[in-house]
Amino acid sequence: MNLFNKTSLANLITMLLLSAPVYAFDSDNGKVLHNESCVRCHDDSMYTREDRKTKSYSLLRERVVQCEIMTELIWFEEEIDDVTAYLNESFYNFNPDK
Ligand code: HEC
Repeated sequence: MNLFNKTSLANLITMLLLSAPVYAFDSDNGKVLHNESCVRCHDDSMYTREDRKTKSYSLLRERVVQCEIMTELIWFEEEIDDVTAYLNESFYNFNPDK
C-alpha cells in the first residue's frame, strides 16, 4: 500500500480541510472571563429580565462588545466569542447562525 500516491494524498488533504475545526467557542473560558469582568454593573438577572433587549445571537455579540468597551477591556475576538457563547448557552439560547 502506498499512502503517498497522488490520489491518496489529495484525499488526505481534502479530509484535513473538511475536518479543520472552525474555532470552537469555549464557553467555559467565556464564563471565567465573564465572572472576572462583567458582574461589576449587573448580575445574571440582566440576561433573564422580562424586557431584555437582546433578540438574536448577532445582537448578543454586539452587546457583549459594547459592554466590553464600556468596561475598558481589550478582548480578542475569540474572547468576545467565548463570552457570547457562554451567555447564549446559559441564558439566551439563540440559534448562533442568526
Ligand atoms: C459599566 C457597567 C457595565 C459593565 C461593567 C458591563 N455591563 Fe453589560 N450592561 C450594562 C448596562 C447599563 C446594560 C443595560 C443596557 C440597556 O438596558 O440598554 C447592560 C446590558 C447588557 C446585556 C444585554 C441584556 C439584555 O437586555 O439582553 C448584555 C448581554 C451584557 N450587558 C453583557 C455584558 C458583558 C458580557 C460584560 C463584560 C464584558 C458587561 N455586560 C459588563 C452595563 C455594564
